[in-house]
Amino acid sequence: MSSLLIRGAKALVQVHEHPVSLVKGAQMAHLPTLENAWLLIENERITAFGTMETCPERADEIVDASGRYVMPTWCDSHTHLVFAASREEEFTYRIKGMSYEEIAQNGGGILNSARKLRAMPEEALFEAAWNRLQEVIGYGTGAIEIKSGYGLNTDSELKMLRVIRDIKAKSPIPIKATFLGAHAIPAEYKSDREGYIDLLINDMLPQIHAEGLADYIDVFCDRGFFTPEETGRILEAGLRYGLKAKIHANELGITGGVQAGVRHNAISVDHLEHCGDEEIECLLNSNTIPTLLPSCAFFLGLPYPPARKMIDAGLPVTLATDYNPGSTPSGKMPFVLSLACIKMKMLPEEAINAATINGAFAMEMGHETGSIARGNWGNVMITKPIPSVAYIPYSFGGDHVETVILKGKKH
Ligand code: NIG
Ligand code: FE
Repeated sequence: MSSLLIRGAKALVQVHEHPVSLVKGAQMAHLPTLENAWLLIENERITAFGTMETCPERADEIVDASGRYVMPTWCDSHTHLVFAASREEEFTYRIKGMSYEEIAQNGGGILNSARKLRAMPEEALFEAAWNRLQEVIGYGTGAIEIKSGYGLNTDSELKMLRVIRDIKAKSPIPIKATFLGAHAIPAEYKSDREGYIDLLINDMLPQIHAEGLADYIDVFCDRGFFTPEETGRILEAGLRYGLKAKIHANELGITGGVQAGVRHNAISVDHLEHCGDEEIECLLNSNTIPTLLPSCAFFLGLPYPPARKMIDAGLPVTLATDYNPGSTPSGKMPFVLSLACIKMKMLPEEAINAATINGAFAMEMGHETGSIARGNWGNVMITKPIPSVAYIPYSFGGDHVETVILKGKKH
């Protein structure tokens, strides 16, 4: 039995007496807090909290949080953390006027990353991804989803998923693995799309299933990548192996991706830089969560997703980083929150709900993490002394985390 007591906190943020559910619409502006409070973590889980009048006197380790907020760690439900190399040469092409789609059509983009990943040994990939994980934990991330999708052949997709499996085994934070073989059509199948889809369905999926390497399946359903019809076939195959869908949709255009995800009961449809009234209506009639990745819109100069419209219509919204070398070379959740507030007019409370409870539900971990509630993992961050929680998105680019505690241990 080991215990850690945090005492004297200015407030516990996102604190709940009862089990939480996904936060939607007008509820998103409500962020429950408990002022002048303590929090106890025993054997890796949150067991008790209260106001300072009732603070326990003893614990194996006591942390003083005077002047500081104690919050659940961020839940980053969409990343491509495993990759071989950065792509700043494409960054320069875009500065000179080439678009992301033009670069992709010329064999750059995802195919550029695939060439480099195929050539990189598994150990080196693990090392690079592990270092990125440590970096994002330092920003306060305490649960994360990681996708494959830079292998684009059976050996290399399996290699990526095994790297994710090994990270899962060693990681102090919970991780979900997503199979994204349908990220792009690889160069060798350029004139044989059906051949690649067949490989995905009949070669990759059975092996991934046999080794238990994935929790979810993803498809880049967008202009120039996979059509809604192809997406449907791939998601159905995934479902036959027990993999629920979390898909890339409507980053580059209104392409039917949202509807394809909803039709296949996707847990989430992610991106939605292009999202009209029909897409919002479709999401309202579903259990699929819209996940917004504003640092991708920031980096590529795309329109921002209509978060305000979505929340005002009653939808839940999740925020994630999309950390990847092509469209979002940053895994910094606090910056995502700043963009959500500044560019999408989300309130600080809405952004924090989107990045904690809703992010956890987008990984089916809503009853494990994403809130301060009894029984959850003891994954919390203690801020530096700051005047309010709105200060976090307000002071964009800043570093507000003083201590990250994972399963009751200082990281
Ligand atoms: O989520 N849009 C598809 N996939 C990634 C980017 C992939 C890349 O450019 O390497 C994304 O933005
Ligand atoms: Fe992505």
